[in-house]
Amino acid sequence: MKSVGIAIFTAALACLGCERAVVPGYELSASMRAVDKDDVEDPNKLRHDVEIQLEKHCGTPLRPKLIGHSELDADYLAHGAEVYRQRCAACHGNSGYGNGPAASVMYPLPRDYTKGIFKFVSVVDGTKPLREDLLRTVRNGARGTSMPSFALLPKRDLEAVVDYVLVLTHRGELEDALREAAIDEEETIDDKLATKLADNIAKRWVVPKNKVIHPLTVEPPYTWDSIEKGREAFAGANGVCFKCHDRDGSARNLLEVGKDPWGHEGRAADLTSGMFHGGATSIDLYRRIYGGIKPMPAFATGYPSDPDMLWHLVHYVQYISGARRREVVQSSLLPNERR
Ligand code: HEC
Ligand code: HEC
Repeated sequence: MKSVGIAIFTAALACLGCERAVVPGYELSASMRAVDKDDVEDPNKLRHDVEIQLEKHCGTPLRPKLIGHSELDADYLAHGAEVYRQRCAACHGNSGYGNGPAASVMYPLPRDYTKGIFKFVSVVDGTKPLREDLLRTVRNGARGTSMPSFALLPKRDLEAVVDYVLVLTHRGELEDALREAAIDEEETIDDKLATKLADNIAKRWVVPKNKVIHPLTVEPPYTWDSIEKGREAFAGANGVCFKCHDRDGSARNLLEVGKDPWGHEGRAADLTSGMFHGGATSIDLYRRIYGGIKPMPAFATGYPSDPDMLWHLVHYVQYISGARRREVVQSSLLPNERR
């Protein structure tokens, strides 16, 4: 009995050991790996110096650090990293470049965090997201994409994994900033430069209150009149939305919309599928239209003569989102208007 106990204990210990051993280190980005002699005199030295600075400011997968948050407990971030390796890395990649082993067959691709750009945010165009925005997406998932909902994770796991996503995000931002400084400004990569660039990143992620989207007006009632106004602005003579989303909002003709910030051909959302990637409530949709999602432009100032117009568009989009299950829409959304 005793020897069986010892054997199990030894096996468990060995397993623990091997699990630690297989935690892979961080990689460098494709653009950093592509730096060559036309860019800098000694590309390998550049990569080496950058790796040293990244480790100083962002730590390692087993001992991560979050730029701008030295107050965070190291074990807490290490726990976030552990959750990430178990639940996220297969899609988002060990270093957050969106290149996990499961990623290649997906559309849309898993987010490459390292550009510091996010889609489902509550801030105006060009501003860093709130931490709360990332938390909401991780909790709710992105319906209609491969991004699952993690609502069942314990709160501590959710919080920690979101902070770890930020570790990877800032690591990517610092990596890009160092590369650009070395190539474009011919700067030497040293402690002083890296600290300055890391401080800039920390500052950029403090979102001023006035960058948070507050609707211009209170949501008007959901009526045929409102839906009709939205339809006109969407697909009417002076409409703009149909140019990317098609007249019926289905985007089925795959109109060319331009590249997304990650350099891939964008595809307008199918607004008739009943699945909104960024959430289906009125305020979710309002934020999408107000702030845009590149290549979709921001429409914050698109309708100066009718500030209610963004809500009319929200209502129209909600209306057509039921196009494939019209009966449900008629019976639940429009009780007074049922025909
Ligand atoms: C099965 C693949 C998959 C897994 C597992 C996965 N994701 Fe995602 N994730 C995606 C995809 C795909 C997107 C992009 C959705 C889009 O662009 O509409 C995404 C997007 C995101 C975004 C970006 C949201 C935004 O506003 O741009 C965050 C943050 C995120 N995931 C965090 C996580 C975290 C944290 C985990 C683990 C707890 C995780 N994901 C697990 C596929 C996955
Ligand atoms: C230049 C092309 C373009 C124009 C013009 C455009 N969109 Fe979009 N729209 C997109 C793309 C691309 C996406 C998908 C972004 C993503 O998820 O990557 C999108 C996404 C959306 C979403 C989010 C859907 C979701 O799944 O969460 C809404 C809502 C939306 N558009 C409404 C509108 C409305 C209303 C207008 C007109 C006021 C409009 N769009 C104009 C390209 C465009």
